[in-house]
Amino acid sequence: MSGIKKSLNTAVFVSGGGSNLQALIDAEKKGIIRSAKLCLVISSNPDAYALERARISEIPAFYIEGAEFEKKLDERLREFNIEFIVLAGFLKILSPDFCLKWKNRIINIHPSLIPAFCGKGFYGLKVHEACIERGCKISGATAHYVNHIPDGGAIILQKAVSVLEDDDAQSLQSRIMREAEWQILPQATEIVAKKLLEDNNGEIS
Ligand code: GRF
Repeated sequence: MSGIKKSLNTAVFVSGGGSNLQALIDAEKKGIIRSAKLCLVISSNPDAYALERARISEIPAFYIEGAEFEKKLDERLREFNIEFIVLAGFLKILSPDFCLKWKNRIINIHPSLIPAFCGKGFYGLKVHEACIERGCKISGATAHYVNHIPDGGAIILQKAVSVLEDDDAQSLQSRIMREAEWQILPQATEIVAKKLLEDNNGEIS
């Protein structure tokens, strides 16, 4: 049927190695993601390997430096007609105004079972160090909506991963990425993009 939008122009925000971006790229290629089209990658770090991953997959990618970050970001999002945002290892805190403007159209992956080990100061390896320190037997990852509270938005998907006796923060981080993050972020991206298309008959304001 002509006229019905089939996918949302989607931007992925990164800061590091980009393994979650790669999972999104691979999921789009395999047809696991059909309702979101990866059109743009934005990095807060000029040296992020995620930028190289975008280049290899021929996705336009830009580093945006700190000064007036959100002003420059808004320009890029308009330039590429972005309708949906996925944070994939993105370490910069977005302003409450930005989060409000993108309410229900921005999601994130966090490497713990929220509400455990989340919020201010809990990012990257720190999350897993705290988990090991506490003696947890189970951890995992959470895909959630982004709002003005760090890691505070509604939960979309979670996947649990066992913490092994001999785990350290690095081994736990690797297993959670492999067994949880790289599965639930693509799944959550498809769920939310599909819902946005259905709820708005494809017209995203
Ligand atoms: C991942 O563990 C993610 O959950 C966290 O930061 C890490 C980024 O990894 N936010 P990558 O850049 O996706 O490889």
